[in-house]
Amino acid sequence: MSDPLIPDLEALAAAAVAVRANAYAPYSLFQVGAAVMDETGRIHAGANVENAAYPQGQCAEASAIGVMIAAGGRRVLAAAVAGPDGVDCTPCGGCRQRLAEFAGPSVPVVICDTTGITARHTVASLLPHGFGAAQLDP
Ligand code: THU
Repeated sequence: MSDPLIPDLEALAAAAVAVRANAYAPYSLFQVGAAVMDETGRIHAGANVENAAYPQGQCAEASAIGVMIAAGGRRVLAAAVAGPDGVDCTPCGGCRQRLAEFAGPSVPVVICDTTGITARHTVASLLPHGFGAAQLDP
C-alpha cells in the first residue's frame, strides 16, 4: 500500500475510469466513475446509479463515499472523477458538499478520462466558503 500522505493520483484516476464502466445510467447515458482514497491509503470506487424516478438517482461521488464509509474509512485524502472522454466532468454542487464533509480544504480532486488526469482542483477551490461542521459547533 502506498504512503497515504502522498496520494497516488494516477492510480486513483485509473480506479475512477475503471469503475465508470459499471455505471447505471440508462436515462442520461452519462456514465460517471469516482474514486476516493481514505486515511489508510485504500481506494474506494463508485459509479452513478440512476433511477426511473429521476431525483432518486445517485452521483458517482456519493457512491464512492458510501463504499468508503461501509469499509470503515472516515477521511478522504484525495478524490478522482471520471466522465466521458473529453468532458470536463467536475463534481456537481451537491457532491462538492459531500466531499467537503470528509476532506480538508487542500485535498486534491482530479478530473480524468481514459487519457489520464485532465484537470486538478482542491476541495476549497471547488467549494469556497462552504458550510460544514464548524458552523454547527462554533
Ligand atoms: N453525475 C455524477 O455522477 N457526478 C457528478 O458530479 C455530476 C453528474 C451523474 C448524475 C447523473 O446520473 C448523470 O451524471 C447526468 O447528470
